[in-house]
Amino acid sequence: MRIIILPTAQHVANYAADRVVDILNTRSNPVLGLATGSTPIALYQELIARYQSSQVSFQQSVTFNLDEYIGIPDTHAQSYRTFMNHHLFEQIDIELANTYVPLAETTNVSELQRNAQEYEVKIQNAGGIDLQILGIGVNGHIGFNEPTSSFASRTRIKTLAESTVEANKRFFSDDEFQPHLALTMGIGTILESKAVLLMATGQSKANSVKAMIEGPLSAMCPASALQLHAAATIVLDEEAASELTLKDYYQWCEQKRQQLHEGSWV
Ligand code: GLP
Repeated sequence: MRIIILPTAQHVANYAADRVVDILNTRSNPVLGLATGSTPIALYQELIARYQSSQVSFQQSVTFNLDEYIGIPDTHAQSYRTFMNHHLFEQIDIELANTYVPLAETTNVSELQRNAQEYEVKIQNAGGIDLQILGIGVNGHIGFNEPTSSFASRTRIKTLAESTVEANKRFFSDDEFQPHLALTMGIGTILESKAVLLMATGQSKANSVKAMIEGPLSAMCPASALQLHAAATIVLDEEAASELTLKDYYQWCEQKRQQLHEGSWV
């Protein structure tokens, strides 16, 4: 794991944007894995700014989102499809037909299972994900892979943890139906991405970040599965990094890496 600790959430967004732009500018058919939640919004704003200043185009790219709520229409204000359209897709030059979010409007189980399997096939047919962006839940989830999710799991129906429902309550009004189920890429699916970049900001993530990086490999912290990925970068602000035991070491590693690249390490 490469651990990068930066001063603020905006620095985290800028770093993530650099990584995404690098993929977009170096691959002929870039495939991005995208995430929802409040953390990547600053990344999407940064990408929109770079598109507007002609630094990048999304015309050739294909995107796959991690997850979607089951049982609400795509057009629902809180669907992840609406989130992505609003926060990114409508503001850049991507072909909307090349943006995939799991199809989860139906509540018919066999239809959902078929959609999940087809999602996996679509990812494979696109050539796999070049860079998967991730956030982390306060309980250590990635996508909607809640604690005890198998590290081998594929795109499937998942029941949300009570703490996740509680954390996401703020987006739904009191009289509104809030889904307790989601269709999510599995941990196995995520681990097949060629590279992953997990962003975490704020004090509320400090414990799950510590468990992910320094805790044991455990289904109790689904994000700890990223310890198994050969090209995983974790980019944190100071608050999210505040519980890390080896924080100084990670910063030292980055310094050494920089010096090595500059040829000034001896
Ligand atoms: C959501 C999403 C995750 C996201 C997480 C954290 O429920 N399914 O992909 O990483 O929760 O969200 P936030 O960035 O708002 O803390």
